[in-house]
Amino acid sequence: MKDPKGFVAEALVGLGRDVPGRTIVAASGGIDSTVAALLAQEALGERSRALFVDTGLLRAGEVDRVRALAAGCGLRLEVVPAATRFLGALEGVSDPEEKRRRIGGAFIRLFEEEAGRFGADRLVQGTIAPDWIESGGQLRDTIKTHHNVGGVPKDSRLRIVEPLRDLYKDEVRALAAYLGIPEPGRQPFPGPGLAVRVVGEVTAARVATAQRANAIVEEEVDRGIAAGAIRRPWQYFAVLLPVRSVGVLGDNRVHGEVVSVRVVDSIDAMTATSVVLPPELARTISERITRELAGTVTRVLYDLTDKPPATIEWE
Ligand code: XMP
Repeated sequence: MKDPKGFVAEALVGLGRDVPGRTIVAASGGIDSTVAALLAQEALGERSRALFVDTGLLRAGEVDRVRALAAGCGLRLEVVPAATRFLGALEGVSDPEEKRRRIGGAFIRLFEEEAGRFGADRLVQGTIAPDWIESGGQLRDTIKTHHNVGGVPKDSRLRIVEPLRDLYKDEVRALAAYLGIPEPGRQPFPGPGLAVRVVGEVTAARVATAQRANAIVEEEVDRGIAAGAIRRPWQYFAVLLPVRSVGVLGDNRVHGEVVSVRVVDSIDAMTATSVVLPPELARTISERITRELAGTVTRVLYDLTDKPPATIEWE
């Protein structure tokens, strides 16, 4: 990339050429799609409509965080509530790849509907170079189908526009700084969201459990970082397992669910090492999860596996 100024000038011309009419923009709250959305807004004004889909599979507080990020850089962003649609699409599905397919399909259908409503025939996405391998245009990561690239069926009437597809992450960061977009400052979060952190069937109740457990892990690890007890790990999260385990609630035996806590360091997510939290911090997480989800979660495990042989997410 040349300097950000030169890139922006060219990108605005490119967007003007590639979007003769109207477009919607798929915004995820991440840095790439925020930059793409801001460029589209700059180039096309009212002909561009940036959408953030509330799939109901997001982390606690995510919608507010993304709204604040957009407001902070002057991006007009619409939140589309779609939890019922996504939960419906996932009903009865346990296979991780099928979950990703259903979620990818639900995103595309929703974008097609919203585009239709807006009279748009283009979809701007924040795809960047590492989302692809350099030759052949194939998905780099074939171990899991990452829904955010290559997910639009050939017969869709939406044409994809990717203004950042030749950029690498550090270039996007430079561009974001130039455009006045604050660093989202959040750990990587998978596109299919909590659906891949609810191992087994995805129900509203299980998503709520995973959301609460993830929030507790984030709060406690963030507290540890702020107190100087640990360095910021690459990712830290909780996974709800499809296992029942006996616990005690008051005078009763209960069959609760099991949560696994995972903390990893990584440079590029291709490999990762598990991080062992200080014992008090790990115990606080376990204690809070079993107390705040009493009767629902009866056991908390700690995942010590590196990638490889495991992957970062459980699914
Ligand atoms: P894995 O689990 O493959 O994860 O070691 C590598 C990185 O990718 C994230 N991840 C995903 N991101 N869609 C995404 O956008 C997905 O389906 C997906 N699966 C995993 C994961 O959180 C990690 O940062």
